Formats: sequence, structure tokens, C-alpha cells
Amino acid sequence: MIEQEKIEEIKRQTDIVDLISQYFPLKKLGKNYRALCPFHSEKTPSFYVSPEKGIFYCFGCKKGGNAINFLMEYEKMDFPTAVKSLAKRLGIEIETTKGLKYKEIYEANEIACQFYALCLTKTIGKRGQNYLVDRKIDIEKLQDFRLGYAPSSGGLVTYARQKGLSKQSLSKAGLISQSTSSRSLEVFRDRLIFPILNLSGRIIGFGGRSIDDQHKPKYLNSPETPTFKKGDILYGLYQAKKAMRTKNEAILVEGYFDLLSLFQRGINNLCAPLGTSLTERQAMLISRFAKKVNILFDGDLSGMKAALRAIGLLINVQVDVFVTSLPEDSDPDRFVNESGVDELKEAIESAVDFFHFYKKMSKPETVEQEVVLIKDLIQIIGNINDPIRFDRYLKYASHVFDIPVETIKNTMDGRTEFPHKPVRQTRIMPEEKLIAMILNMREHFAEFKSILVPEDFTVPGVRRLYRQLLDRGDIDIDDALTSADEDLRQKVYSIIMRGESVTKEALLESIKRHKSSVEETRIRTKISEARTKGDDVALTKYQKEHEALKQKMLHIKKDPVALDREL
Ligand code: CTP
Ligand code: MN
Repeated sequence: MIEQEKIEEIKRQTDIVDLISQYFPLKKLGKNYRALCPFHSEKTPSFYVSPEKGIFYCFGCKKGGNAINFLMEYEKMDFPTAVKSLAKRLGIEIETTKGLKYKEIYEANEIACQFYALCLTKTIGKRGQNYLVDRKIDIEKLQDFRLGYAPSSGGLVTYARQKGLSKQSLSKAGLISQSTSSRSLEVFRDRLIFPILNLSGRIIGFGGRSIDDQHKPKYLNSPETPTFKKGDILYGLYQAKKAMRTKNEAILVEGYFDLLSLFQRGINNLCAPLGTSLTERQAMLISRFAKKVNILFDGDLSGMKAALRAIGLLINVQVDVFVTSLPEDSDPDRFVNESGVDELKEAIESAVDFFHFYKKMSKPETVEQEVVLIKDLIQIIGNINDPIRFDRYLKYASHVFDIPVETIKNTMDGRTEFPHKPVRQTRIMPEEKLIAMILNMREHFAEFKSILVPEDFTVPGVRRLYRQLLDRGDIDIDDALTSADEDLRQKVYSIIMRGESVTKEALLESIKRHKSSVEETRIRTKISEARTKGDDVALTKYQKEHEALKQKMLHIKKDPVALDREL
């Protein structure tokens, strides 16, 4: 949990224009800034940022919010991660309870990493050094990876003790296992060590390659700990993320050596899963850094199969997927060593898009096989959100397999809405308009709040929002909207972003008008009730009240809060 006050401070200090500009350029337009929306595909910009209000809003896809929401949406971060990332930019310290809990593991891993790295430079690490030479790995060019060597004789426990680190900590980090005789066994022995870093550069686990090929398993990873979940991380991402962003392209390889071998030769937008097939979470992670992914797996059958699996996952996170094919007996490391980096680069450049890779891979021999292939491909295409790309592939598939577009569309189960359909346009109700204006001018709320009660609002979400406003006084727009439903949230942001300058007096008039119309409805109901009952006394009374109200309403200006003007 992060303290509410800290969050407020972070929000106050963050310059949202500055933040978003780090991802794509914004153009100044009056008081606001504008860009092509990063969340949907469009040709004319409808994504607006208001530095004054600290919010963004897209009039096309209706996504909007503050700096935290932006990071959550754009970087696919969860709330605490987004807050922490903003804090980091601002140099604000935040210590979460979770962070403290894991501190011990991070520390143990850090010390272990230092130990292994040190060993690699000493006589005791000769086997590691020789192995690296054999495999043509130049450690000088790979400083960021902090490679190491774990001696067969161990030594980590002693080293850790000297650094004031307990066995318990090593054990929590999965670096030692307790044997029955309470003698601790170091997990990594006679292995080349690949520290695995999270996105903040902290070491969360290790991979180790046996030096002796007889020594099984060939690769060993740290066991899963609270900070180390193999399916959630990608090897090399910390070191590669900047290059990925710049190039907007990621190259996905299978192994540690593939990655290091290419990295030291200047191909640096790389990452690799940790010995398991790609997970949904890893696909999501990549999509935060690059919009195009080039799959560069081993040339064997298992590499091909892994590529086919990865394609679907990557398409689901809306990246463009390309596949580079290597000779059957090769992998990127071997290829670059045998044929040189230029030839590898050439192969990477001539990667084919997923569609062609799929077609090339599964050479159907029977009609049935072809049907399966087509159905698989259609399913993948059906998950593409980008309307232009979707259309392209749809027409492509239609042309290549000679199937009418309509037939393909009908086959796409689960795709209820086609992306080129315009975004649902819901009308903004007067109450929603009003609450947005009130939120927008909440510094004057004290002057309004005696007029309306929550029951004056008939839309449940608006009523709830207004009640919160009354209860909590000076409320933050985002806080208030966090609990509101998505539809209302979008509408309120859209109104606030339009930023119609309305005077306090005009808003006051609007509030009064709303109040009288609510009262009028109430009186009308009472009048009709009195009529039904035949209660003439009550009827006369309410009719009089109605007349008085109508008189009063003549003095209230007609809805001054007009929001119909487009930006
Ligand atoms: N892997 C693993 N456990 C194994 C074999 C492989 O975790 N027993 C993982 C490793 O992350 C490895 C990746 O799968 O880097 C790719 O496997 P493979 O192609 O067999 O490894 P290479 O990197 O080609 O291994 P090397 O070149 O060292 O033989
Ligand atoms: Mn390999």
C-alpha cells in the first residue's frame, strides 16, 4: 500500500505533457496538446492532453484519465507500479510494505551476483573463462549482464557471511538448499551464471549453464520465489528496453547464449523467455516496449512450433509479428558464429509476416489439413484490433485461400464487434454534464452544496458521485471517478477535457435550474396522485406550489452550461 498523501503529491508534481511526450510527440493547440491516439488507430488526432488539469482524453476511443491512468493504459502497468514509476521520475522516495518484504531476497541475490562475478575474474573461475572463450563470448562487451561463474567448490555461503548476510536469506532467495545434515548445499555449482534482472534492474533470480555437458540439467534456473516468476519476466529486457523503444521493434530469441551472442555484436533489442514457451504475460510485457516483434527461434522443428505458439499470443497483444527462419540445424548463436553478423542481419531483415510464415510452415497435403490451417489463421486474424491491419489480413486471407470475406467473417467466433465499427456513441445526459461541471469547479463547491441533495440526481452513478463529493468535501477528480463506472468516467473526462470556460455564476444558474426541474417533477407527481385520490385540498395546494415554482423558474437563465460545441 502506498500512502494516499504520497499519491497526491506525486500527481501534483507530475507534468503530464512532459510524461506523455516521452512516448510520442504532442502538438500544442491552444491551452491543450494534441496527438494521434496511441490507443486506437486513427488518421486525424483526437487525443488531447490538458497540462492545466493534468489529464488526457481521446474523443475517438474515449480513453481518458490522469498520469497514473496513462501509464496503466500505455505501459500496461498496475496501479502501484504506475505510481512508483512516476515517483521515480520525480525522485520521490516511496517504500511499500511489499518492497520491504522482498528486500531480503534482492539483497541476497545482489550479493550472490557479486560473488559469482568476482569468481569469474579469479583463478577459481578459470573453467568459466575458458568456456566463454570457447563460445566466443566477449564479457567486456556484455558488462550490463553481470555474468558470473559458480565454482564447484562453492564459497557463496562464506562470502555472504562476510557481507553480513544470513543463510536464511540465501535460502529464501533459493540459492542454497538445506540438506538433512543441516549442511547447506549451494544450488549453482560449476555453472556459468546469468543474473536475471527485473525492469528496475534488481536481480530477481539466476540462470546457470553447466560447463560440463555431462552435468545435467544443461540449464538450471533459480527456483520460483515471491520475486521470481519465470512466466512473468524476459531475460535481457532490462538491458534491451531502451533500444526496443527507440526501434519500436523487439527480437525474440530462445536462449541465453543466442541473446548474448547477438547483443555483443550490436543487435541489442533482444529478449528471451526463460526456457519455457512464451506466456501471455510475457507477450504483454514485450508489447509495452515495441509494436513489432521479430521471432528469431531455433531452426529446428521445436523452434518452429514454439514460433507458431508465440504468434497467437503476440497478435493478441496487438503487436505486428514477423518470423525469421534459420537453417534447420542452427540457432541464432550458431548462425552468427558460422556465417557472421551481416548474414544474420540480412536474415532478420527478410523476416516474413506471421501470415506467410504460417502458410509456409504448414504445407497442407489434404483438404482437411488446409481447412485446419485456414481456421487457425482466421482465428489469429480475428484477434487483431487495428482496423486497417485487420482489413488487410482479412482481404489477404480471402485472396490467398479464395474464400469470400463474408464467409471468413462469419467463421470468426467470439468476434462480436468488428473493429471498423465506429466507437459506441452514448449521449451525455444533462445530469452527467452537470456533475462534470461541478467537479471541474469544485473549488467553489462550498457555494453550491447547499442547493442540491444526492436524491436530486436520478442517474445512480451521478448520485453516488455527488454523495461522495458532499461527504468528503475537497475531493480529487480521479479519486471520485475511480469508483464511478467506466461509462460515466469517460463522459466526465470528455466534458472536463472540452474545458468549456463557464463562470461560477453560470454554473450556479445551471444548478438552480436542475433543482427546480427536479422539484417540478416531484410536484407533478404529487398533483397526479392527489387527482387520483380525489383529494381536492391537496390538489389546490400543489397546484399553487407549481405556479410559484414556474414563476421562480422564469428568472433562471436557460441552461447556460452548453457543451455542444466541439473542440
Ligand atoms: N533451457 C532450459 N533448460 C534446458 C534446456 C534449455 O531452461 N535443459 C532454456 C535455456 O534458457 C536455454 C533455452 O532454453 O537458453 C534454449 O535452449 P537450447 O536451444 O537447448 O539452448 P541453447 O541456448 O542453444 O544452449 P547451448 O547453446 O548452451 O547449448
Ligand atoms: Mn538453441
